[in-house]
Amino acid sequence: MKKLEIITRPDKLETLKEILDARSCTGMTILSVMGCGRQRGNVHEIKGMTFNINLLPKIMVNAVIPDELLEPLLIDIREQLATGQVGDGKVFVSDIQDAMRIRTGERGSKAI
Ligand SMILES: Nc1ncnc2c1ncn2[C@@H]1O[C@H](COP(=O)(O)OP(=O)(O)OP(=O)(O)O)[C@@H](O)[C@H]1O
Ligand SMILES: [Mg+2]
Repeated sequence: MKKLEIITRPDKLETLKEILDARSCTGMTILSVMGCGRQRGNVHEIKGMTFNINLLPKIMVNAVIPDELLEPLLIDIREQLATGQVGDGKVFVSDIQDAMRIRTGERGSKAI
């Protein structure tokens, strides 16, 4: 199992939900977040301290998926979420060791 943390533009939420649904992802968690990437820009010096003031609203979609969905989903995301402009976002991928469906006690891939 893999966990995708997809951080992208808020206006891409519907597209992302459709991508995950089309690949039969069984669940997702969506958070509204603030963040910045490489273009920190707008850094002001106030009383000798540096503040980063350009945190932008983003959405983060977490999905735990079977290994075989990883590459197809990355392709879909690249094809449908890239605008060519900075700030399109990132996908962080990690291994998930185990899971449990609380209602039934099912474990591992049966639980996702
Ligand atoms: N290294 C990182 N760690 C955690 N979150 C990150 C990281 N890089 C980007 N993010 C998150 O992703 C969002 C979008 O990042 P963004 O697409 O601007 O990345 P970037 O590296 O600046 O790429 P680009 O040059 O295409 O803009 C950020 O607002 C932040 O929430
Ligand atoms: Mg950026």
